[in-house]
Amino acid sequence: MVAPTKSGRLDDDERASLSLFISLEGPDGSGKTTQAQLLAERLRRLRPDVVLVREPGGTAIGDQIRQVLHDVRNVDMQPRAEFLLYSASRAQLVEQVIRPHLARGGIVVCDRYADSSLAYQGYGRGLDLKALRTVTAFATGGLMPDLTFYLDLDVAVGLRRRLTGGGEWNRLDDEALDFHRRVREGYSRLIAEDSGTRWHVINAARPIDQVHADIWEIVERFLP
Ligand code: TYD
Repeated sequence: MVAPTKSGRLDDDERASLSLFISLEGPDGSGKTTQAQLLAERLRRLRPDVVLVREPGGTAIGDQIRQVLHDVRNVDMQPRAEFLLYSASRAQLVEQVIRPHLARGGIVVCDRYADSSLAYQGYGRGLDLKALRTVTAFATGGLMPDLTFYLDLDVAVGLRRRLTGGGEWNRLDDEALDFHRRVREGYSRLIAEDSGTRWHVINAARPIDQVHADIWEIVERFLP
């Protein structure tokens, strides 16, 4: 906790130091959305300044882009166009919601973020990772989460959950199992390559409350 200045008010730097940016990643059907909601609800019991957003989307413009991306009729979409649409949605979200909220010292919980593009469009579609990283840094202004939870789950189990769970079935769910396996492998590489403390791998093949408990235990340690 940061001590207030003599005036009793926090200056901009102090306010920003209270912020926390958390993302949730994982294959389709890994339960990220449920976990993001549970996490945001629990955080709100401690602090009022918690924003929950999802990618693609999270803004009015981003939600329009999401419709284009998820429409199962858009079978012609080219991988680079797909990546740029995700990036456009992300750029809008960062500028309009995430960065201002963090600057006010708030907490942001994001259901997918830039790592999804590296995993899906990079490892899944085979686009050049270096180029994706450059464009992503441009789209986000270099903003990355403080904490990222990777909900790990066998892809066949995840897709079965999606089929039977009644949620939205999108264009990417339609991809072959091989695609989803490459995505999962991609996440493993991203995690292995990262030398910092951002990534936390959670076994998502367990009941919702157990997964939540694991996430919460880590978040509590990072709470400013
Ligand atoms: P969504 O309905 O949010 O599903 P999930 O609950 O699995 O997150 O759909 C998001 C889909 O978009 C998902 O299949 C992953 C894909 N995606 C990408 O391919 N690249 C990206 O950069 C992002 C953010 C998502």
